[in-house]
Amino acid sequence: MANTSEFSSKIGLIAATVGSAVGLGNVWRFPAETQAHGGAAFLLVYVICVLLFGIPVMLGEFAIGRAGKSDAIGSYKKLSPGKPWWISGFLGILCSYLILTFYMVVSGWTLEYLYQSITGQLFTSIPGVEEGSNLQFADRMEQYVAGIWPPMIWTWITIVICGAVLCMGVQKGIERVSNILMPLLFLILIILFVKAASLPKASEGLAYFFNPDFSKITPNVCISALGQAFFSLSLGMGTLITYGSYFRKDTNLTRTAFNVWLLDMMVAILVGMIIFPGVMSFGLEGESFDGSALVFVTFPEIFNNMWCPQLWSALFFILLSVAALTSSISIAEVSIAYFSEHYKMKRVPATCVVLLPLLLLSALSSLSNGILSDWTIFGYTIFGACDAVTANVLMPLGAFIMSIYLGWFAPKNLMKDQLTNGGTIRNNFAGTIIFLLKWVTPILILVIFITSLIM
Ligand code: TRP
Repeated sequence: MANTSEFSSKIGLIAATVGSAVGLGNVWRFPAETQAHGGAAFLLVYVICVLLFGIPVMLGEFAIGRAGKSDAIGSYKKLSPGKPWWISGFLGILCSYLILTFYMVVSGWTLEYLYQSITGQLFTSIPGVEEGSNLQFADRMEQYVAGIWPPMIWTWITIVICGAVLCMGVQKGIERVSNILMPLLFLILIILFVKAASLPKASEGLAYFFNPDFSKITPNVCISALGQAFFSLSLGMGTLITYGSYFRKDTNLTRTAFNVWLLDMMVAILVGMIIFPGVMSFGLEGESFDGSALVFVTFPEIFNNMWCPQLWSALFFILLSVAALTSSISIAEVSIAYFSEHYKMKRVPATCVVLLPLLLLSALSSLSNGILSDWTIFGYTIFGACDAVTANVLMPLGAFIMSIYLGWFAPKNLMKDQLTNGGTIRNNFAGTIIFLLKWVTPILILVIFITSLIM
């Protein structure tokens, strides 16, 4: 049963948490958000958000999970019985479901690109587009996501693969996969960065990414950066509460959080350092194509300029697929842990209960990029709405409620005990972290949220 599983080794534990954090959020969502919100200005606010909120909120979730030893809802109930704080866990489960509806679609795109890289199709010209044209990959992606069956079928394939891994249980499934492949993803990104740095307009791209224009910092940029920070670190919806419940008593939570945070940020920044030189050099800035396709356009362009494009492309997309898989596993785990604990369900039925409705919901989300693009909610398609509502509303809200709980209402010394493993280890940061959670996190989230609503 979920709450009796523990991660067996230290590396396994960090790897699984990094596996959850590093995913499409870093490689697909981060550059798209950066481009949509003014480049370096967004990066700056993002880094501040990640610094101020990332580690404290992550530690808060770990602490609730390890102390409550249960799923996102159960942990709150155990720590504060009879109080309504578990609603925050409930919001998290709802949020995780909404994330899955679009996350699975993008994971599906990744698998399709992997398939096309292996067959070589990706690098053949497409009908109606001039060969060698800069926009060849943009057109290909645009046509692909607007299609009906291929993106939908790849989404379903992703859900089935994810379900299969989840049925195998926590340790075997998650730990093994992410242990081996995450370092490899890092390595290939470094190689790609070296290539990107030699592109003709590399320095322009890097300036766009690193040289902030302060006038571009608006409340809207701030809320998006905040949302991206939570999204990328898997915060604000109980994923890390669930993972925290699998942590051992002697795990040093602060060190784990720091490692995860560092790796996650490095991957995002590295991806930006590859993509923006590409964007400038291939003339993709301000193109009419949707920014959400950025990785699927820029990376293939870069591979196309390398020796043996197919090989690099296949390698990259296989690693990205695995990164997406380990993240989607962690998102789905929130609901699966809840069903298996609360309703005492076995793992396999719990996985089916969670993933089966997703077949329909993610299909709708996929179609909303094509034939259902007229179905809009406040101007967003289904796909866009799920993305925006989760990152920009539900996750900050989740983190807000959690920090209020931990700062003011949780059992006394809960945080301190968890940060020092009941006083057995020294933790010089404990005071700062508790202070940040009590005052800075809730107040700043509220301020950013309210200003973005008014302005
Ligand atoms: N962090 C993951 C990524 O960057 C996505 C993710 C996994 C997530 N678990 C989460 C996002 C929990 C929010 C909450 O791709």
